Amino acid sequence: MRIERFDPARDEGAARALHQIHVENTPVDDPGFPPKSPGVFRGYLAQGWTAEPHEAWLASVAGDAVGGYILELPDRENRDRAAVTAMVPPGRRRAGLGTGLLRHAAARVRDAGRSTLTGFTRDGSAGDGFARTAGAVADLAEIVRKLDVGEIPSGLLAELRASTKAAAAGYALMNWASHYPGAYLDQVARLNEAMGDAPHGPGEEEQSWNAARVRAVEVRAVAQGLRQYSVAVRDEGTGELAGLTELSVDQAEPEWGHQQLTVVTRAHRGHRLGLLLKVAMLELLAEREPQLRWIITGNAASNAHMITINDALGYRVLSQWTFWRLPVGSIL
Ligand SMILES: CC(C)(COP(=O)(O)OP(=O)(O)OC[C@H]1O[C@@H](n2cnc3c(N)ncnc32)[C@H](O)[C@@H]1OP(=O)(O)O)[C@@H](O)C(=O)NCCC(=O)NCCS
Repeated sequence: MRIERFDPARDEGAARALHQIHVENTPVDDPGFPPKSPGVFRGYLAQGWTAEPHEAWLASVAGDAVGGYILELPDRENRDRAAVTAMVPPGRRRAGLGTGLLRHAAARVRDAGRSTLTGFTRDGSAGDGFARTAGAVADLAEIVRKLDVGEIPSGLLAELRASTKAAAAGYALMNWASHYPGAYLDQVARLNEAMGDAPHGPGEEEQSWNAARVRAVEVRAVAQGLRQYSVAVRDEGTGELAGLTELSVDQAEPEWGHQQLTVVTRAHRGHRLGLLLKVAMLELLAEREPQLRWIITGNAASNAHMITINDALGYRVLSQWTFWRLPVGSIL
């Protein structure tokens, strides 16, 4: 097996070959979830979701693409680790290719001076068995939920919004599409940092954000063909942003919405702002994206507050996932 690195921005053939494997794998490994479109996939190969450096590698045997992997090498925090997503198409599995890819990735990570590989697999999938065989340690359980937008009972959003009225008095809603106004970038960076309060695995450092990182994520999303929506709540007394929810719609798959972060800063919790934000987002989407049929969201299984809100909106469990950690030295 030859394993070669490629530049997703320049090597269209290699990016297409890896995307094709992703398309073949998704119904097998993640049934009920749409494969990423080519545009979203290529942007992900280059930068992931939160603007960290990524490497894309394609494996071939006798000129046929037989797998590959994506390596995320965060350069601001978690610089002792790297996240790997190895992929082998269904027709080529159980022949040792995945193990070869994992060893290759581990050597790459060791050479980059890092000690730990991390990964993410759906419970009960081939990746789950693969991670266990590799000796990975389970860090955090994540549950993915799906909302059938057409099944939201009429009147439910109005009723939920009314239920927030007293607790959320003194807060005003705002929304933006695709770009934050420059005046809010620093505050949006702080809200991203407040996500550090969400459950995360042992030893995982919280992300540090600034205005440039917020802009880098926006640029990547637009280049991927994503329409991004943001709803925020502002404390009318101080003018400070107290909470934020973000959601993206791929223009190539416009029936699907992908929930991104939802966060309320510590000082403003307990005012039903999380629920208000998500209700307001659904109202905004009804106006701007009337074709939307499903929304996908993922939360740590232990994130009781967020899950209560999602349950109230009608989200149903689609799948359960595990975040894994594996010392590089145990593979090489
Ligand atoms: C995970 C994946 C890369 C494995 O590729 P592969 O080429 O089949 O892996 P290998 O042949 O090297 O398997 C090594 C061992 O992992 C375990 N394993 C692999 N697939 C398994 C499955 N479906 N069920 C249980 N164990 C499994 C087995 O112990 C296997 O050894 P064996 O075949 O001798 O029993 C492939 O299934 C895939 O692309 N899955 C989707 C993406 C993913 O989940 N990637 C993992 C995240 S990094």
